[in-house]
Amino acid sequence: MYVCLCNKVTDKQLKQAVENGSHSIIALQHSLAIGTNCGSCLDMAKSLLSESLDELLTQNPDIYYAA
Ligand code: FES
Repeated sequence: MYVCLCNKVTDKQLKQAVENGSHSIIALQHSLAIGTNCGSCLDMAKSLLSESLDELLTQNPDIYYAA
């Protein structure tokens, strides 16, 4: 499903970016350009970011302590 229509970013791309180290909206804006046009996707992007971080921490709690 598309999260950001302006930049054609899907939920799978967002999740993959989080797994690759984009752990904030600012980081996702840099890596995927999500929310950098009209901004109407930012609420959904924040929600999916939170879900993805929760999944990541559940799978690997040690990542919280990584630098
Ligand atoms: S839908 Fe994401 S910037 Fe417009």
